[in-house]
Amino acid sequence: MGLEKITGRIAADLEGLKQFTATPGNGCTRLPFTKEARDAVNYLKDIMTEAGLEVWEDEVGNVFGILKGDEPDEPCVMMGSHYDSVKNGGDFDGIAGVVCAVEVARQLKERGVTLKRSFVAAGFCDEEGLRFGTGYFGSGAMLGKRDVEYCKKFKDADGISIYDAMVSYGLEPEKITDAKWPEGSIGSFLELHIEQGPVLDAEHTELGLVNCIVGIQRYMVTVYGRADHAGTTPMDMRLDAAEAATKVISRIPDWAREKGEGTVATTGFIRTTPGGMNIVAEKVEFTVDIRSTNNDYINDIATKIRVALEIETQKMGGSYEIENKLTITPVMLSEEMLKIMEADCLEKGFSCRYLPSGAGHDALEIGQVIPTVMLFVPSREGRSHCPVEFTKYSDFTKASVIMADLAQKLLEKE
Ligand code: GLV
Ligand code: MN
Ligand code: MN
Repeated sequence: MGLEKITGRIAADLEGLKQFTATPGNGCTRLPFTKEARDAVNYLKDIMTEAGLEVWEDEVGNVFGILKGDEPDEPCVMMGSHYDSVKNGGDFDGIAGVVCAVEVARQLKERGVTLKRSFVAAGFCDEEGLRFGTGYFGSGAMLGKRDVEYCKKFKDADGISIYDAMVSYGLEPEKITDAKWPEGSIGSFLELHIEQGPVLDAEHTELGLVNCIVGIQRYMVTVYGRADHAGTTPMDMRLDAAEAATKVISRIPDWAREKGEGTVATTGFIRTTPGGMNIVAEKVEFTVDIRSTNNDYINDIATKIRVALEIETQKMGGSYEIENKLTITPVMLSEEMLKIMEADCLEKGFSCRYLPSGAGHDALEIGQVIPTVMLFVPSREGRSHCPVEFTKYSDFTKASVIMADLAQKLLEKE
């Protein structure tokens, strides 16, 4: 199989999927349970069917295509990523991994090898968690870790719950537990993804072998003060939610810096209510996303935030609420599968290196319970979660071949 032909197929699919965005001309905005998500799923179903896979969509909006092996009851090899995006994100984050999973299925068919196990290409729904402030919804549901209460609890910025969004998308959230795959049915999980950081591009390294993925905790914090006239209320007589909230927010980055070792903490969303220039803020809502390969560091920063909120809201005379939206521990990926890919890269003359992932992935959720591996391709200048995100199609080709080799080994395994 010529590499140019593979590159052509990957390019055609990614170009085709680019059109499914709510912000044409300003990056990819494909939030879960929207028209853009529906159109992308339909497109994926079509290319999976053309690739000769048996296709279905599950109870939470994940899309799967299966290439059946001779012994379909044996644990399958699954490869995939997510088809949703952030707001004004790039055209590669997640979706490239889904497209390459379909491409690996094509390559396996073309090789004409006898497969003992089945190969499954997966496109997961709502990995980003941006809309509801959560994360890994589709892959979590596949593992039986999401339920109806979860769907009712988490809401988007317009107050629409996951439950209601699913209903308007045509799904039946009451059936969510049917999305769970039987214990032991998935033998291994493979994810190909753009690096979303600068390391590979800066070093001109062709592929990244991901040895571990950071743990993540996400919170929505609400600080309550009192609305008053901004001009007439003396500074010592106001309950300013903005003052208390920002005093906490401004210290969070330093707490991450103190921990070091790649620990990061981000406040990406802040909203004041009523939100007027001349009104003291009655309420401030903000998010916190904390990540590290050391789970103790994450717990420590979360505790510092709670303590600071207690102190600052008491000083102000108001109150606060803090809601945990996601807690997931760091995960080590399969050394055995990484070694197979490393040897293959060496043999094929592709440069590679080991590196950790600071971004979360479906592999983070799935890797908690199933042997999992990730392969990164370079991101130009490390830019991601923005419209300029870019990776050469030919870089995906190299990664797809390495993953097809690994998948073949696993599929033939006794
Ligand atoms: C997903 O891309 C995340 O790391 O937030
Ligand atoms: Mn992603
Ligand atoms: Mn992302």
